[in-house]
Amino acid sequence: MKLLVVGSGGREHAIAWRLARSPRVQRVYVAPGNGGTAREPLLSNLPITDLAALADYAEREQISFTVVGPEAPLAAGIVDLFRSRGLKVFGPTRAAAQLESSKDFAKAFMTRHGIPTAAYRTFTDAASARAYIAERGAPIVVKADGLAAGKGVVVASTVGEAQAAVDMMLLDNRMGDAGARVVVEDFLQGEEASFIVMCDGRHVLALASSQDHKRLLDHDAGPNTGGMGAYSPAPVVTPEVHARVMREVILPTVHGMAADGIPFTGFLYAGLMVAPNGSVKTLEFNCRMGDPETQPIMARIKSDLTEVFEHALAGTLDQAHIDWDRRTALGVVLAAHGYPDDPRKGDAIAGLSEGAAIGEDTLVFHAGTQLDTDRAVRTTGGRVLCVTALGDSVKVAQSRAYEAVAQICFDGMQFRRDIGHLAIARRRDAGKA
Ligand code: AMP
Ligand code: GLY
Repeated sequence: MKLLVVGSGGREHAIAWRLARSPRVQRVYVAPGNGGTAREPLLSNLPITDLAALADYAEREQISFTVVGPEAPLAAGIVDLFRSRGLKVFGPTRAAAQLESSKDFAKAFMTRHGIPTAAYRTFTDAASARAYIAERGAPIVVKADGLAAGKGVVVASTVGEAQAAVDMMLLDNRMGDAGARVVVEDFLQGEEASFIVMCDGRHVLALASSQDHKRLLDHDAGPNTGGMGAYSPAPVVTPEVHARVMREVILPTVHGMAADGIPFTGFLYAGLMVAPNGSVKTLEFNCRMGDPETQPIMARIKSDLTEVFEHALAGTLDQAHIDWDRRTALGVVLAAHGYPDDPRKGDAIAGLSEGAAIGEDTLVFHAGTQLDTDRAVRTTGGRVLCVTALGDSVKVAQSRAYEAVAQICFDGMQFRRDIGHLAIARRRDAGKA
């Protein structure tokens, strides 16, 4: 079979790489792809981003099914378009993608269906928002309603900082349409986890848990980023927490969307805050897999992923099963000089292998890279690579990943040296380090 993966990040390299491990797969096209997907055996880049042109391609080339990685084409209606042309595609419709593309939609949905989340109010008027913040006190969180590429959330430690964020979004219009409405919500304490499931509109198949590191610098300092590393499983998601998330968050969301007449199909990602007592609240929904969470998750899948997608597309996810590698997978993101504010492009990358795999247990997934005409791989974006390794413990996976990082080099390369620290501290506390 021939498959199509839409996107150009590390998430898409990892999904396409895993699909291509299936003996059923002849070729996976990645649109538009990156320097890694250009060099990976069985993968080909497709330099198309226009949605109608992608549908034409899928039809002409008899693509068995398409998997959409990022939120932008989903929010633009790629799934509606493909379906209207009778093409198989895994992802949410434009209406269902509002769980991610509008924070106000997601909060109102959660409130209506009794799904645990922080108390909130939505504003279009700055004076009312400022008054609500003054009444509520700090810390408090201000979020732009629309898609803002990870830059729409201000976790404010003072009332003044929160009010300044409101002014920036509602008065100065600095986030454009995305910030024309703001959600102001209570600050939640705890440990974050990413909980990603596949949905077919009615049934749910949970993927392995994971945890991302959002801050740029070691010890969770510095600015927020798209994610500087991740690992799977996340020890904070104990079997009890897992059961609770399914019962209180995931199933009510999937059933609630169906009841509201907008069944959710595709990957549903709940960003969770797990309190010390094990209670769970939803910070956000994404309508796609996480990046970089996908890279360690894909590294751990042992089943034929094409069969899982076929169940999802046929509405029989209740009959699907994924065999997981029991080991931990841990991914370290290598970012460009100047990331996240102003990443530099064009730096040559040394020390890469031809495909993602280096040996048995280490994979280098590309994101912001491009293959030049001279076959040199250069940086083209903020997050450049995600070096992912498997190991019997978080520590072993971590040291394997950092050994592989040491082989790679480009000017201005930035990375965190403590990916996995929360999981390692948890094991240490439990006497298992
Ligand atoms: P979001 O895009 O909504 O996930 O927010 C981005 C990041 O902001 C999250 O990963 C959290 O680290 C933080 N955050 C968001 N909402 C809250 C909240 N209510 N309380 C504490 N931290 C939050
Ligand atoms: N790593 C967080 C995200 O993909 O949204």
